[in-house]
Amino acid sequence: MNPFEQHVFVCTGGKVCPVEGGSAAVHARLKELVAQAGLESAIRINHAGCMSQCGHGPMVVVYPEGVWYCAVRVEDAGAIFNEHLLGGKAVERLLYHPLQPGSNKT
Ligand code: FES
Repeated sequence: MNPFEQHVFVCTGGKVCPVEGGSAAVHARLKELVAQAGLESAIRINHAGCMSQCGHGPMVVVYPEGVWYCAVRVEDAGAIFNEHLLGGKAVERLLYHPLQPGSNKT
């Protein structure tokens, strides 16, 4: 058994994501939606440091699915929460398609 069913990491600790798209607001909104739904014991929203994808962010990663989202804005948090975390279906329009394995900084 894992402590949480889903674990969401938002890049708020890097130097680029917080500036290019307001990742702190994305983190706060996801946390708020989880709390409003009373799902804090099932879904954990965490701050994360740089994911080496700077320039494509704000980056959000959901585990255990291993789904990566890019260019996430605060107005996208509802779709990630409703469609993915609750509905079990990744939000296609936000999916990240890296150019190569590993680092993809621009
Ligand atoms: S600062 Fe977010 S991926 Fe680097």
